Amino acid sequence: MINPRKLIGAFLVGTTVFVCSCEKNNVKTLSPDGRTRLQFCLNKSGEMTYSIERDGNAFVLPSSLGFEAEQGNLKDGFVIRDVYKKVVDTTWIQPWGQNKTIRDIHNETVVEMENPQAVKLIFRMRAYNEGVAFRYEWDANGSDSLKISDELTEFNFANDGSSWSIPGDFNTYELKYRKLPLSEVADANTPFTFKVGNTYGSVHEAALYDFPEMCLYKKDSLSFKAELAPLPNGVKAYVPSKFTTAWRTFQIGDKAVDLINSDLILNLNEPAKFDDMSWIKPQKYIGVWWGLHLGSHTWTMGPKHGATTENAVKHIDFAAANNIQGVLFEGWNQGWENWGKSQHFDYMTPYADFDMDYLADYARQKGVDLWMHNETGGNIPEYEVQLDSMMQKYARLGIQTIKTGYAGGIKGGYLHHSQYVVSHYQRVVETAAKNKIMLNVHEPIKDTGIRRTWPNMMTREGARGMEWNAWSEGNTSDYLCTLPFVRLLGGPMDYTPGIFDLDYSRARGNNDFNGWNGDNNSCYIKTTLARQVANWVIIYSPLQMASDLIENYDSHPAFQFFIDYNPDCDWSKAVAGEIGDYIVMVRRSADSFYLGAGTNTEARTILQPLDFLQPEITYEAIIYADTPNSEKNPKNYRIENLRVTSVDTLTLQMASNGGQAISFIPLSN
Ligand code: NOJ
Ligand code: CA
Repeated sequence: MINPRKLIGAFLVGTTVFVCSCEKNNVKTLSPDGRTRLQFCLNKSGEMTYSIERDGNAFVLPSSLGFEAEQGNLKDGFVIRDVYKKVVDTTWIQPWGQNKTIRDIHNETVVEMENPQAVKLIFRMRAYNEGVAFRYEWDANGSDSLKISDELTEFNFANDGSSWSIPGDFNTYELKYRKLPLSEVADANTPFTFKVGNTYGSVHEAALYDFPEMCLYKKDSLSFKAELAPLPNGVKAYVPSKFTTAWRTFQIGDKAVDLINSDLILNLNEPAKFDDMSWIKPQKYIGVWWGLHLGSHTWTMGPKHGATTENAVKHIDFAAANNIQGVLFEGWNQGWENWGKSQHFDYMTPYADFDMDYLADYARQKGVDLWMHNETGGNIPEYEVQLDSMMQKYARLGIQTIKTGYAGGIKGGYLHHSQYVVSHYQRVVETAAKNKIMLNVHEPIKDTGIRRTWPNMMTREGARGMEWNAWSEGNTSDYLCTLPFVRLLGGPMDYTPGIFDLDYSRARGNNDFNGWNGDNNSCYIKTTLARQVANWVIIYSPLQMASDLIENYDSHPAFQFFIDYNPDCDWSKAVAGEIGDYIVMVRRSADSFYLGAGTNTEARTILQPLDFLQPEITYEAIIYADTPNSEKNPKNYRIENLRVTSVDTLTLQMASNGGQAISFIPLSN
């Protein structure tokens, strides 16, 4: 019996043996540090594969490439016409982000090919120190358009290992993580994070436009295939004869935190499409929101209506008094009676008890921004009809931020992550940019780094956020310790952290909302209070919410952290962590630093050197920590003030499900 992995010049992909003829059909790209090699190969039939080596060892075995399309041959018969290489080392600045200054250092190889059907393909490969990526740039020689019926890209892992992912569902990302051996994953969405031997990695995509999302579906043992979200008729995508796909990406690192500290996804996106970014402002916000999910308020007009003028004024005043720049209103516009039914919403007309013009004026005087919520319920056609005029109206009123939502089946039977919806999300981003409006998208398409190109695409949900704690068994601390290593690799998340009233379900008293699973007592926050504070730092969002009812923050000593926190970060680093176990993040905004640490169900002590602080500056460290009692009573916390410098080390003690937050404010010398 021949072991195909030992054959020289032959290799096994799924059940097909490719024979590589071919030095000249074999093109390699090496990462700048020489550790990672991405290799492209054509066999005698002109079929394409790629493979990846790390430190001289097989990491991804030869894996098929190409597409199936009715009108063109996008899979074989290719010959190489030209190969050229580029070395890139540049630095660019983001208007906002976890890091404002980003270095892009990589080697690129471009392989130009053609097949007998005169289909031309540029296969673009890049190798970075922190991973590799490739994409297809097709020119199908004049076919008016192509119907893509399948993507043939495969991912044949060389060895088994552990993986962390959500299932490969084309309709939602609001799913629990599974930790599974690679060999036991049937399907997964991306980012698909894994550890093989001592190496960490994550498969994702970058710069996804006008194309369906990609999931990984098991083919065989350690072999996965790209599966694209289909349109209702089964076609995956309609594309012009010239089209470029999203990048297929592999982040690779020696430590779990290397995945978080990588800018690979952003570096693969194009520079910004517009120059004036003065109107783009990272900020903190509160909102008429949590009460809606608890059932103490309603989206619709009535005795418990949340978005009334009076309640809005109260929120604007609270924001103005507490260094909070934005206030979100849900249930302010007409149509909520139709949610889950006709999904007819009017995005221009407020309910009679919400005086939009007055509030826009009032907020302006108070120096606070009004945020309007647009729930579409999945009724995209109607949203698109109102889009231009609605955004123009908001812009006239000085409204600069919209939270959109797609909670409901997409009208027309489309899957949430299919090409039609991806293109819709993009139309909204571009219309918003024209009107100088920032976006926070719920039930979004996954983040593939387009915020570099469209910096008004600030943040999005796209995972189980805080809302799940209001009406389900909620999110565990293991989930919270997995999020940074999977979902957050794509980009910022509007998790809406910071509930202080951890056992609110008991506090609901006799209100008539009993939790969606009928068990009111299972609804509570499964972390300590200190961890809720830490999540403001851990779960990065340039628009960061304090999501609890404002009365739960009023005069609460731990709320001082949010008052001091500045989400307009200049620099960020994950300094310690293991997937699903714990995480320590530090960020700098202007001269202050913020640390957020969190653990899973295990109580944990971490010795944290403060060498990230500026040398020779003394900081006041304000520490928000668990107490020995916090495991039994998660609302217990302590605040301690210390003077520290960069040569000090702090002991971070965290209770089970706990955490710690620290702000470091420089003291003038
Ligand atoms: C789901 C969103 O995630 C949540 O934030 C919003 O309040 C509801 N939909 C209602 O639109
Ligand atoms: Ca949601």
